[in-house]
Amino acid sequence: MNFSFKSLKFKAILLMLLAFISILLIIILGAFMMSIESHINMLKFILFGVSLICVTIISLLFHFLIKSILIPIDRVSKAMEKMAEGDFKQQLSISGDNEIGAMERSFNLLSQKLLSTYDLIEKVNSGESFEHTFEYVFNTFKQFIPYNRIGMAVIDDQEEIIRAEIARSDNVKIHLRNGYSLPLAKTSLKQVIESGQPRIINDLKKYKARHPHSESTHLIVKEGIQSSLTLPLKVNDKCIGVLFFSSIHKNTYNDSHIVFLNHIASHISISFEKSILVGDLILAAITGFAKLAESRDNDTGRHIERMRNYSVAIARQLANYPQYFDIITEKYIRDIHNFSPLHDIGKVGIKDSILLKPGKLSPDEFEVMKTHTLIGAKVLEKTQEVLKNKDKNFFTIGIEIALFHHEKYNGKGYPYGLKKEQIPLSARIVAVADVFDALTSKRPYKSAMTVEKSLEIIIKEKGKSFDPDVVDAFLQSQAEILKIYRSLSDDYSELQTSG
Ligand code: C2E
Ligand code: SIN
Ligand code: SIN
Ligand code: FE
Repeated sequence: MNFSFKSLKFKAILLMLLAFISILLIIILGAFMMSIESHINMLKFILFGVSLICVTIISLLFHFLIKSILIPIDRVSKAMEKMAEGDFKQQLSISGDNEIGAMERSFNLLSQKLLSTYDLIEKVNSGESFEHTFEYVFNTFKQFIPYNRIGMAVIDDQEEIIRAEIARSDNVKIHLRNGYSLPLAKTSLKQVIESGQPRIINDLKKYKARHPHSESTHLIVKEGIQSSLTLPLKVNDKCIGVLFFSSIHKNTYNDSHIVFLNHIASHISISFEKSILVGDLILAAITGFAKLAESRDNDTGRHIERMRNYSVAIARQLANYPQYFDIITEKYIRDIHNFSPLHDIGKVGIKDSILLKPGKLSPDEFEVMKTHTLIGAKVLEKTQEVLKNKDKNFFTIGIEIALFHHEKYNGKGYPYGLKKEQIPLSARIVAVADVFDALTSKRPYKSAMTVEKSLEIIIKEKGKSFDPDVVDAFLQSQAEILKIYRSLSDDYSELQTSG
């Protein structure tokens, strides 16, 4: 607060000065009256008036002390007491545009900060989904910390890459989107991760000039971002990724932001780890069950791995198409990764005489076979109910995949004969992966086809059985698909060893 004539300091000095002059005047006048023993009424009257003014000024000083300082301080101290007792919902009305007002404003901010942080902790503890938690942080802490964008990137230990996980921005257009990945060794983030120390860049344009090949900087500058604060995300001392707070203004960040943001970052890491961990536990159990089910008509667990990898490869490719930007998030890809292997879990309900029949199924038998989609969805719905997982949508993608992976784009599939976008995208993706894998694999009722022949069939079915976009994405990721096929194909390894 500057020294202005609105400030209490100014008013207090002025009043004290006036009071001092008043007291001086009273003393001088008193001495004067006593010394001259005057009988002039006029003079007496004037002396009386001046004394009255002096007394008024002194009373004003006391009034000011009580009303402008003591009462507001008392209110702040009472509110502070309540806050110490744990009642963070304390808001004071601002008594004026002065020092006390500034104190009241700081107090209100402190109480809001505590309340929001407390809410965040509660959300994390109660197992609120990571996406909701992230959204909450973006919307809530704006009032305390300057930012226009929050992004998070996660380390993939296996692949030694760092991948943008999620971002929220005031801007309509996010260029540095989720899924964007870089080899860890190639980014400047390595320093943040290894040192565990936050990094502030207060002029990204200048930074970009010095690092002309940093694509991530290029993308973020294109979004209009000018400064950023990067914090390591740690769980039990292990760095799992980084959190970016960024602003469209230059020179936004300084060390004073770090303590509070580190605090936020630790809650975000816990929320993220928690969501992954709980999911992993549930999925480990279910996937074990699925493997058991698969083993009846599939001799190895490789089918499960291939399905997963084909589906993820297609989804990653599709994520580059603008029309899927908002749909295919990192969470979506994780769901595809986790649930695509469960697509045929309903086969547990199909008896051996049908499932393992060496020859062609009769129409009646095929009708029974078709129910594996309905059974699979039921199994996952029941699991969802039994687990009472807080996240009611945990199995949604899994259920979609199990139920709809035999629907066809032209409406000629089963169980419901849905068409085009009526079929969930997850199921449209898995359908292509499933058929490609079925074609290139040996089954009790068929031998394996070559990759070339299988690709031909997929291409022929574009727009008929399959979503044309999904087939395009599949074909664009052919190199990756073949790599998966080669590394995981039973037949290919047989060919390799026998030939
Ligand atoms: P699956 O063996 O995993 O096959 C999945 C899907 O791949 C099939 O779904 C079909 O769309 C495609 N597919 C598999 N083999 C071929 C093929 O040789 N040519 C072509 N064009 N497409 C193929 P579909 O037909 O709805 O079958 C679902 C499941 O029903 C199959 O899963 C399999 O477990 C069973 N099934 C289908 N036909 C027969 C059969 O003739 N005999 C037996 N024992 N089971 C069958
Ligand atoms: C981000 O800013 O959201 C991610 C940055 C990266 O992946 O390098
Ligand atoms: C980078 O670290 O390469 C980009 C800067 C940022 O996203 O904060
Ligand atoms: Fe199936």
